[in-house]
Amino acid sequence: MSELILGIESSCDETSVAVVKDGNQILSNIVASQVKSHKRFGGVVPEVASRHHVEQITSCIHEALQEAQVDKKDLTAVAVTYGPGLVGALLIGVQAAKAFAWANDLPLVPVNHMAGHIYAACFAEKLRFPLLALVVSGGHTELVYMKEDASYEVIGQTRDDAAGEAYDKVGRVMGLSYPSGKEIDRLAPLGKDRYHFPRAMLNEDNFDFSFSGLKSAFINLTHNAQQRQEVLSQEDLAASFQASVVEVLVTKTIRAAKSYPVKQLIVAGGVAANHGLRETMKQKVSEQLPETQLIIPPLRLCGDNAAMIAAAGHVEFAKNRCADLSLNACPSLSF
Ligand code: KG4
Ligand code: ZN
Repeated sequence: MSELILGIESSCDETSVAVVKDGNQILSNIVASQVKSHKRFGGVVPEVASRHHVEQITSCIHEALQEAQVDKKDLTAVAVTYGPGLVGALLIGVQAAKAFAWANDLPLVPVNHMAGHIYAACFAEKLRFPLLALVVSGGHTELVYMKEDASYEVIGQTRDDAAGEAYDKVGRVMGLSYPSGKEIDRLAPLGKDRYHFPRAMLNEDNFDFSFSGLKSAFINLTHNAQQRQEVLSQEDLAASFQASVVEVLVTKTIRAAKSYPVKQLIVAGGVAANHGLRETMKQKVSEQLPETQLIIPPLRLCGDNAAMIAAAGHVEFAKNRCADLSLNACPSLSF
């Protein structure tokens, strides 16, 4: 009999519910985005996010089951993101999952949101271990080594801002609306790397990252130009910023994959939707790591969604890592 997992995700500004069959077939993946409500504040407002989750969660559950044409009684388990993320936002998903699991007598599987991003790759390819994952999102930038399913070793991470956070912060300085990663990505190929911003920690003997110096260099350049009443090209700014982020992410990831020989390399998280990152990573991996298979989830699965949570839940469930109804949200959960 096939396994059907209901996934629930509410860690930030998307309410999402999915039904996934046997860990790798998406039967439904409903994503209710709140981006429009947060745009005018220039970032996610936690209280607003929680309220939207409350409003959306029940209808997302109904819609996910309906679209998947699955009856509650045929489900195998409920998997839910319990961290990291905004505490109020996480709590809505966790409480909904607990209530649903209790009412329908189903096992409850807690999932780490970052593990979810990694497992989005399993919808594109079967995962083979050991593997290395670069997880780049609005809140995290991590290099994770996995010897086997559901085993995570963080071998490098950002010391300050996450890559997506840097995109959103410089986007604000450029007058772009939140979240600005996608728009900077659109502008970048239209400009040139004229400003050659710093490539932080590129030559250091570790797998860590830093993006706050890049952000400061960007802000200084634009402020100085403003004082001189000089108008800088948005396209060149985007191209220069993106060139720095992509070079650092790709160079350090390839170096890590050479030190930790792996069968597969995964690039996941919201910033994995970046065309510059996807193309450069493909090119460098084929040149320098011809034996390694690169997996980057399709664009629609890079951002937050519940299918990835159900997929990570599938491996957690196989390892019997279930929770009882005392499960709580863990806003600073790490691997
Ligand atoms: O994974 P995600 O949806 O949410 C978190 O878990 O944080 O990532 C959101 C981040 C935002 O910072 C957004 O600006 C960035 O991903 N992002 C991009 C692109 N699309 C989304 N950054 C660069 N290029 C993109 N195409
Ligand atoms: Zn995320």
